[in-house]
Amino acid sequence: MNDDALEQAVRARLDDTRRILDRALAEHARVVFANSLGAEDMVLTDLLFRHYPQVDMFSLDTGRLPEETYALMDRVEAHYGRRIPLYFPDTAQVEAFVREHGVNAFYRSVELRKACCRIRKVEPLKRALAGYDAWITGQRRAQSITRADLQAIEHDPVHGMIKVNPLVDWSEKEVWHYIRSREVPYNVLHDRFYPSIGCAPCTRAITPGEDIRAGRWWWENPETKECGLHPGRRGAPGAAGPQRSST
Ligand code: ADX
Ligand code: SF4
Repeated sequence: MNDDALEQAVRARLDDTRRILDRALAEHARVVFANSLGAEDMVLTDLLFRHYPQVDMFSLDTGRLPEETYALMDRVEAHYGRRIPLYFPDTAQVEAFVREHGVNAFYRSVELRKACCRIRKVEPLKRALAGYDAWITGQRRAQSITRADLQAIEHDPVHGMIKVNPLVDWSEKEVWHYIRSREVPYNVLHDRFYPSIGCAPCTRAITPGEDIRAGRWWWENPETKECGLHPGRRGAPGAAGPQRSST
């Protein structure tokens, strides 16, 4: 697809995305965007700051983010003149977990990895979402077998609220066309073969041909690769598909 065709495709996606956002904002009074500062979320950051400045935003600082993500937070602030509020894990819970299991327990078992995600992401997310009717995420269907049945607007039974996924149908190419053509700030790790970025110890670069999420928790099976922010998809259609390459 040449650049003109890609631009046309992105404009059509943008129309859909704006429709999804407009509907969500018309139907729900208190809406918030959970911003990981990943590539998809930078598309949404740009759209929301420019066209929906009334929408609240936050990011979860797990305490283990890559330096490059903190650098991006600074660049976002300089670019848009807005600071994204951060939520941190509960100190007592982190201290107890690390005292018992060590600083890098997540490599030892899926259970310990999920416990770390629970303390550093899931519990702070609950606090961040309190009082809202709906939350916006940057998830795309094509990202993972665990996201194959993602809907644009869906009920989130875990948080008892609505979840809005305005980029549900976007392709990775379309995301990157938007970022580059609109000069949106992005994490420099993306230029070093990190298509999906989470915490530093749980994210690595991928090699050509690998799945875009192969660098997340690369020592686990694809079926377990969700951190608990978006639970309930493991039994979803497509979730039992063939394993992608990951080392
Ligand atoms: S994860 O479940 O594997 O960590 P991923 O990185 O793909 O998720 O992000 C999916 C969506 O979850 C993001 O678009 C964002 O809405 C939300 N999210 C993930 N990490 C964070 C974070 N650190 N802070 C805020 N939201 C986040
Ligand atoms: Fe802990 Fe890794 Fe989960 Fe971050 S991604 S919260 S470091 S297990």
